[in-house]
Amino acid sequence: MKFSEAVRLLRIKRPTAPYGAFTLARCYSIDDVARVARVRLPLAARAYLDNGGQGEYTLHRNRAALDTIELLPDQPRDVTSVDTTTTVLGQRVPFPIVLSPVGAPRFFHHEGERAVARAAGHAGIPYGISTLATVPIEEIATQAKGPLWFQLYAWGDRQDAQKAVERAHAAGFQALLLSVDTNVRALREREKRGGLDLPTPELSLPTFLEGILHPTWAWHFLTSEAISFPNIGPPDHRSRDKINDMFDGSVSWDDLKWIRQVWDRPLLLKGVLRPEEAVRAAEFGLE
Ligand SMILES: Cc1cc2nc3c(=O)[nH]c(=O)nc-3n(C[C@H](O)[C@H](O)[C@H](O)COP(=O)(O)O)c2cc1C
Repeated sequence: MKFSEAVRLLRIKRPTAPYGAFTLARCYSIDDVARVARVRLPLAARAYLDNGGQGEYTLHRNRAALDTIELLPDQPRDVTSVDTTTTVLGQRVPFPIVLSPVGAPRFFHHEGERAVARAAGHAGIPYGISTLATVPIEEIATQAKGPLWFQLYAWGDRQDAQKAVERAHAAGFQALLLSVDTNVRALREREKRGGLDLPTPELSLPTFLEGILHPTWAWHFLTSEAISFPNIGPPDHRSRDKINDMFDGSVSWDDLKWIRQVWDRPLLLKGVLRPEEAVRAAEFGLE
């Protein structure tokens, strides 16, 4: 082989950097992205992101149940042009995917909801913001180009919850999801082993030392604003303290009455498992 041919085969190229992140160029699946995240994150953050409740039985059974689903192609068929667009809550979306609410995302990435809102807008899909968001909903609304939904955990005497709903309404959020599957928190053993004692999100000394072994994460964690929950209280320790009162087991069908009075847009229950619950929700006029 001539030297010039060998050089052509070598094809030395500058790596591309999707979204400015070189590592993403080597990710070919969601599993690849998850692997990169696990390397970057300290144990406590990994545990919170990855673990399931109590023995993780449901996590494994859900995964196994989904794995039994097979897609049966109807072939041969011309698939040169495929239309994945559909309608979700009356809104046209490019494919049937909604980004689910995730609490405290700034624990995993310093930009948190800001980055997710930009990505959702880029894809044109709805993004559900958690009650436990780490960026004010008004700021997220300015970054988002796609539809925004607000997920509600109701707790205590409901005044704080109501304020959060009113803020989401004023910020133009298009749907409200009332979470009913986390009335109380599960025992999450991996978090405990990782030194994280949620709902108190403070880090223990071993966790902090673990953070030092993950310098990129630690650098961003220490140089960005402290994690707080600015949609349920002031952006400091007072909003963190409020999480202790959340998941007090008090959410019930009665909550739909006050929520309906302050929210006149689409309303959904998040975490319904039994057909009777779905029927009852429909009777309440929920989507
Ligand atoms: C780290 C993490 C945080 C979550 N935080 C919330 C939350 O704040 N509110 C909520 O309603 N659901 C929350 N969820 C549940 C997700 O919204 C979603 O319902 C669940 O992960 C199932 O979807 P999946 O199978 O795609 O993970 C969280 C899930 C994870 C993994």
